Amino acid sequence: MRIDVLTLFPDLILANAQAGVVGRAQERGLLQVAAWNPRDHTHDNYRRVDERPFGGGPGMLMLIDPLRETLAAARAATSDPAPVIYLSPQGERLTQKRVRTLAALPRLILICGRYEGLDERFVQAEVDLELSIGDYVLSGGELAASVLIDAVGRLQEGALNDADSASQDSFEQGLLDCPLYTRPERHELGEVPEVLRSGDHRAIARWRRQQALGRTWLRRPDLLARMSLGSDDRVLLDAFIRRHRTQGS
Ligand code: ADE
Repeated sequence: MRIDVLTLFPDLILANAQAGVVGRAQERGLLQVAAWNPRDHTHDNYRRVDERPFGGGPGMLMLIDPLRETLAAARAATSDPAPVIYLSPQGERLTQKRVRTLAALPRLILICGRYEGLDERFVQAEVDLELSIGDYVLSGGELAASVLIDAVGRLQEGALNDADSASQDSFEQGLLDCPLYTRPERHELGEVPEVLRSGDHRAIARWRRQQALGRTWLRRPDLLARMSLGSDDRVLLDAFIRRHRTQGS
């Protein structure tokens, strides 16, 4: 997969995409990230990329023409079609489901806003999808684009070393992850739950499912409300809730 990013801070995007799993995916040739700077597509002495908004108000907006030229240059880099995605707090909220859909495409073009955002005419004419990574405001789209690149990059076939680990992720089954433990078994901060040391794989799977259901019930009831639980899950969750109400844990 190839990801082209329009940004006034190319170093930020490229540095983030070099670390960890995403960096390894690039080394393995599974992912290619390229950055394009609208400042390189200006034609005035000041290399101007922003202007004040009509109607007044704080801040500056990114100009249409440098963005359009940059987008045309990025598009022309390969013949693969690509949706143009604008990262902005006004966008639809990014979910793991959306990440999976985007990860299956051959190419994406991401646009990072700075200042107060982009001229709406550019958004209307050129953007296919506006995505937000959460209900808070960043000073630019670069961190949001890096989040998307990471989420999509790690799903490229061969990027993760353990073939199973993506399917076990939080959200892949609509639930948060269960708690995980490693050595030592006993520590001054506590003991690893007995069941995980039992070697009883069925009991371990049940415990993990129950913890995942319970945590989701406690922390993200909105996710549970969207699922229809089977009878086994219902029994596990009811037991978790009863225990939580009596023990507070
Ligand atoms: N740019 C600024 N804030 C953002 C957010 N929450 N999500 C995506 N892009 C952004």
